[in-house]
Amino acid sequence: MIDARIQSMFPPASDDASRVDSHWQLMLIAGSAVWVVVVTVAFIAVLRRRRGAERAGDVPEATQGNEHLVVGVLGAVVPALVIIGVMADSVLVLRDTGSTGSGADATTVVEVDGKQYWWEVRYPEHQVETANEIHIPTGQDVRVELTSPDVIHSFWVPQLSGKVDLVPGETNVLTLSADEPGTYWGQCAEYCGLQHAWMRFVVVAHDEPEYAGWLEAQARPAEQADPAQGDGDDVESGPGPAAGPASDEIAGREIFMSSSCVYCHTVAGTEAQGTLGPDLTHLASRQMIGAGVLPNDRESLARWIEHPQDVKPGNAMPGTELEDDELDDLIAYLESLE
Ligand code: CUA
Repeated sequence: MIDARIQSMFPPASDDASRVDSHWQLMLIAGSAVWVVVVTVAFIAVLRRRRGAERAGDVPEATQGNEHLVVGVLGAVVPALVIIGVMADSVLVLRDTGSTGSGADATTVVEVDGKQYWWEVRYPEHQVETANEIHIPTGQDVRVELTSPDVIHSFWVPQLSGKVDLVPGETNVLTLSADEPGTYWGQCAEYCGLQHAWMRFVVVAHDEPEYAGWLEAQARPAEQADPAQGDGDDVESGPGPAAGPASDEIAGREIFMSSSCVYCHTVAGTEAQGTLGPDLTHLASRQMIGAGVLPNDRESLARWIEHPQDVKPGNAMPGTELEDDELDDLIAYLESLE
């Protein structure tokens, strides 16, 4: 399980993030140098004024002229040069980083819709849909197409990229890349409502073969996955025999398909084709639920299904009244969706 506390741009893990980091370093160094110079000059001025007051009236006019020149240079020309330098580097950062790039050369395209308060993630070339988890191959540019059906959100993975807004009716493009395999936290960075803070996601970067394997597994309808060949290492699968699903999974499926779950959620290959909530086809392969609010385990699923408004007030999921054994069966079914 990834550490939910980490939300830092350090250490940068992509070219873009390194570029933003170097710009930050430049601003830190320039700002510190200006501060030291200003404080030193102010200190000298105070000392000289005090000394000057002691022997008032003996400063020649020629010296005053020189001081005006020094003040003019230090007070106007030097700050102008510093600001122009920092601004020039800012413009170069904007030019060089993916926030304004087209990602036209990217071989991987991911569509991301920011919704109140979760992220829908689609791989249009592979008919794959998931939520709150973006998997990418390392070492190459990924074109991320961002939009929103409701309000303005902002896509931000501090270790990998700058922020780009998701605006209703527009598609903004971000080029995302990661140098090393790993899991990187992302966060909605534009206030969008009550659960803005819990609109989180992860970017999981894999090396090429592992990424291809993930994509292939996600493209299968979950229920046709071979139970003997589970590759999910995050979530335990049910103890289903290789011959087929266990009885609790079957009972859970029955509950799922006959309840209102199907109006909002899709499980590919079944009659559940709702589009309001996250696609659950491979729910069990994900690290967390509720856009980062809970880990994806049995206890959290139970809390989420029964009292989603206690866990995350204002989200679109209604609570469900179930007997304990029904809840167990339903969770067994959800956990079989690898
Ligand atoms: Cu979505 Cu803040």
